Amino acid sequence: MPNKNVLITGASQGIGKALALLFLEQGYQVLGTCRSGNIEISHPSFEAMALDLTQMESIKTFEAQIASKGTKLGILINNAGIGPDLGTSFPEEKSFDQTFDVNVKGQVFFTEAMIKHLAPSAKLINVSSKMGSIEQCVGTDSVAYRMSKTALNMYTKILTNRYAGQFQIATLHPGWVRTNISGDNTKGRYAPEESAAMIFEFVCSNFKTGIFWNVETNSACDW
Ligand SMILES: NC(=O)c1ccc[n+]([C@@H]2O[C@H](COP(=O)([O-])OP(=O)(O)OC[C@H]3O[C@@H](n4cnc5c(N)ncnc54)[C@H](OP(=O)(O)O)[C@@H]3O)[C@@H](O)[C@H]2O)c1
Repeated sequence: MPNKNVLITGASQGIGKALALLFLEQGYQVLGTCRSGNIEISHPSFEAMALDLTQMESIKTFEAQIASKGTKLGILINNAGIGPDLGTSFPEEKSFDQTFDVNVKGQVFFTEAMIKHLAPSAKLINVSSKMGSIEQCVGTDSVAYRMSKTALNMYTKILTNRYAGQFQIATLHPGWVRTNISGDNTKGRYAPEESAAMIFEFVCSNFKTGIFWNVETNSACDW
């Protein structure tokens, strides 16, 4: 019987919320996080928890709560992410720091804290972006966002090497999705529910560990 406990960060809106609803519909127990801990999902198998990836104290408190529950996670989806410099031409210090605090430092230290709570053979998914692909990069915009996702991809590779044979790990591009991550995203190609369905299918598949996957094209993404 597969472990049906899934933890999804950034579940208050956008892709994370749609994913939480889909996993619930599919019979999973879902823990969803956001900074306030208030998520508008009412379901007996759902629990909302507070987590601010920019605060090491918040990560520690969260870890202690998971430890006291004794929950072993079958799936961890690191979805929370921000893009305050999306669409801008040059890096600016404030948005650069914010981006790296959430998308890189927060992701790394949160994941490190969660590893001991993963079930054997758990799946660990980082929600990245094809904007982090070095090989596919033709643009000059969104410096911090692009670099943060490249860094997240490298972290995914490092985790894959460290936990070879223990966990199934992947980084993925969720498509261009209509969410609040940036003003431009209202033009996105997919509704959050469509992206969530593609992600769900990938997560449930027997994917090759260490892969960078584009769920939109259902094919590997260039690093
Ligand atoms: N939308 C797209 O087209 C697209 C494309 C490629 C990749 N992605 C990636 O997909 C993921 C989800 O993006 P989205 O478009 O669904 O964005 P979104 O609608 O803006 O949702 C972002 C989520 O992250 C949470 N979050 C923000 N700051 C946080 C912090 N400091 N600590 C913890 N959680 C925090 C937010 O929760 P609160 O604000 O309530 O705390 C929210 O639930 C991101 O990693 C993004 O980079 C999106």
